[in-house]
Amino acid sequence: MPETEREDLSVIGSSQSLSLRAAEQEQNRLTNEKSVKPIITIKGLTKVFTLGREKVIALNGIDLQIYPNEIVCLLGTSGSGKSTLLNMLAGLEKPTKGSIVIYGERIDKMSERKLAIFRQKNMGFVFQSYNLLPNLSAIDNVALPLSFAGVKKKVRNKRARKMLKLVGLGKRMRHKPTQMSGGQQQRVGIARAFVGTPKIVFADEPTGNLDTKTTIEIMEMMVRMARENRQTLIIVTHDIEIAAYADTIYHISDGKISSVEDNREKQIVPGKQGHDANESPPVSSDNQPQDLSQASPGIIAAAESEPEIPPIGEIITQDAEKEAEEIEKILEKSDMSEIHTEEK
Ligand SMILES: Nc1ncnc2c1ncn2[C@@H]1O[C@H](COP(=O)(O)OP(=O)(O)OP(=O)(O)O)[C@@H](O)[C@H]1O
Ligand SMILES: [Mg+2]
Repeated sequence: MPETEREDLSVIGSSQSLSLRAAEQEQNRLTNEKSVKPIITIKGLTKVFTLGREKVIALNGIDLQIYPNEIVCLLGTSGSGKSTLLNMLAGLEKPTKGSIVIYGERIDKMSERKLAIFRQKNMGFVFQSYNLLPNLSAIDNVALPLSFAGVKKKVRNKRARKMLKLVGLGKRMRHKPTQMSGGQQQRVGIARAFVGTPKIVFADEPTGNLDTKTTIEIMEMMVRMARENRQTLIIVTHDIEIAAYADTIYHISDGKISSVEDNREKQIVPGKQGHDANESPPVSSDNQPQDLSQASPGIIAAAESEPEIPPIGEIITQDAEKEAEEIEKILEKSDMSEIHTEEK
């Protein structure tokens, strides 16, 4: 939670039986699911940063497998290596040693250009500091990934509008980031991450700047969307209460996985805790009911009454290379104020 920088990892490794149980559970899980192939396989992942003469071992031999539709949490204290691991998974940084295979492709071996397209096709991102483009309205921010994928303006705006309604921002479409609260900005961030229904969504401390009530709203929203769309959600956090939403919790400590926890029997299920199913739908901070809580089954499908936009991975072609380069520029650019979408 934002108000306290708690050392939530105090629970980890406190008892050997806990790790053993976790290892056993993980083994059972893998045995039960051996027919399901992992979509992400990491082996021996090591990252060493060199600062002058000093070497920082950020990741020290990580092995893990992530399965389709799994909600995964990378949980650890500050400096444990969580963001480094996430960045590697997203192909944003190259490992010093080890391999990362996603959908059968060695992403650690890919060229920047190929990686950019791979990311566009398969990945969505939610950031702690939202990373919205300040000069763009909510709707333009959400439509951006579709714009890069070559979706026509009318169609992508329609889709972006629906996404914004789903996250309870139907009345904030034309607001710019500075005209919205942190929670509202993060809902725009979620709408943007999910708008193209990418197969994998990464979220690095997505609620790190938010209060407790908004944190629950945001977490429930992300988990619900990922479940409804059968997406894999990978969340980085130091907060055990966020980790409670995950199927699997990887405890990260000093660049290693100290234990793996199958959390499925005790995980928080959106709508089941916090707000009862019989209660009226959760009301967002701007007092608008979140349409999201009612959209079931098939949250996106339910939202789409007009021609469906296929998942972003199916619409991007090689022609998207130019757009992929644009995305790279946006990610690299710290001052985003000069960036505008076309047709503005
Ligand atoms: N670009 C870099 N150059 C040098 N050292 C780095 C770099 N990025 C990360 N590190 C170091 O690697 C280690 C892991 O950093 P990382 O950002 O992955 O931690 P984290 O678990 O995400 O922490 P936090 O919760 O504070 O975000 C830290 O010791 C950090 O100082
Ligand atoms: Mg971090």
